[in-house]
Amino acid sequence: MTILGIESSCDETSAAVFRDETLLSNVISSQFFHSEYGGVVPELASRAHLKSMLPIVRQAMLEAGITLNEITAVAATQGPGLIGSLLVGLNFGKALAISLDIPFIPVHHIEAHLFSTFLHDPHPDFPFLGLVVSGGHTMLIRVDDIGVYTLLGGTIDDAAGEAFDKVAKMLGLGYPGGREIDRCATSGDPEAISFPRPLLNSGDYRFSFSGLKTSVLYHLRKHANKGSLTLTEQERNDICASFQRAIVDVLLEKCMRAAKEYSITDVTVVGGVSANSELQRRMYEYGSLYDIQVYIPDVVYSTDNAAMVARLAALLAPRMTTTSLLQASAFARSGDRLFRAYP
Ligand code: KG4
Ligand code: ZN
Repeated sequence: MTILGIESSCDETSAAVFRDETLLSNVISSQFFHSEYGGVVPELASRAHLKSMLPIVRQAMLEAGITLNEITAVAATQGPGLIGSLLVGLNFGKALAISLDIPFIPVHHIEAHLFSTFLHDPHPDFPFLGLVVSGGHTMLIRVDDIGVYTLLGGTIDDAAGEAFDKVAKMLGLGYPGGREIDRCATSGDPEAISFPRPLLNSGDYRFSFSGLKTSVLYHLRKHANKGSLTLTEQERNDICASFQRAIVDVLLEKCMRAAKEYSITDVTVVGGVSANSELQRRMYEYGSLYDIQVYIPDVVYSTDNAAMVARLAALLAPRMTTTSLLQASAFARSGDRLFRAYP
């Protein structure tokens, strides 16, 4: 089976080729121009996908050393994401599948992140716990099998990555801000400011990061002089380190508490925020202390990429009939159960 994967849910245009158990290529084009606007501009993102989709797909096939005739299925992200951006990859993928008369596999973006560590060996064993932390989502999901998911909790306001991005913007650090905060935090004191740990002791797996972001804003106001920020580099780094420590404390505590409650020994942390150096360090540290295997994808597979789309499609394909390949719009939600509806 040779799968061409396509991702275009936000501001990355990506294509990848996955054959049998091997990733042959993964080409990503990031739309850096959004930093000028302090966030992703949907209209511009869609237009940029239109421009780069064909060259990126061509490049992925070139690097994989395959021709069109060798592709046996096309997979593309169907959502969630920016609708204009999604439509570019989705319709490109569908049209290609129809023209080659091969199956099309629609892929759920969160589900693709969830299985991104399956691009590595070793990867988690079922059942495992998935902490999905990206710019748009913060979710803790119990994964019993491919397609059998239980949502244990999610954010009630901002996603973790969104909080990173908004705080970075307040500090004038550019977009996307997570990586910048991570970088500044390495020279800061994480104990310098005591920011709140929202819902840390709520007894459930809900997250909330909006109040934390506001606390940073109030802290900054104290330092503002006639409306302009008067922070030294060290003060800025201390804010980054203290803010990052607060987010990581909450993510680590809730994730590991769930592992304990459900007696799960494999944990995967995925999505853009999983690239965070402190989150990674503390997850691995905790894991080795309490015998929990922690799996975090390489940074190229943590932010949006098509390798994870093709990888998940390869896992899904054998479980789907031809009809379901065409119809699946699954990863539906029913109560607190998330499930992929197979016929
Ligand atoms: O998964 P992703 O590429 O896109 C979404 O599906 O949202 O995640 C992007 C998010 C952004 O909010 C970005 O700031 C954050 O991941 N991010 C980080 C780091 N690298 C990327 N957050 C914290 N630390 C990082 N090193
Ligand atoms: Zn994503």
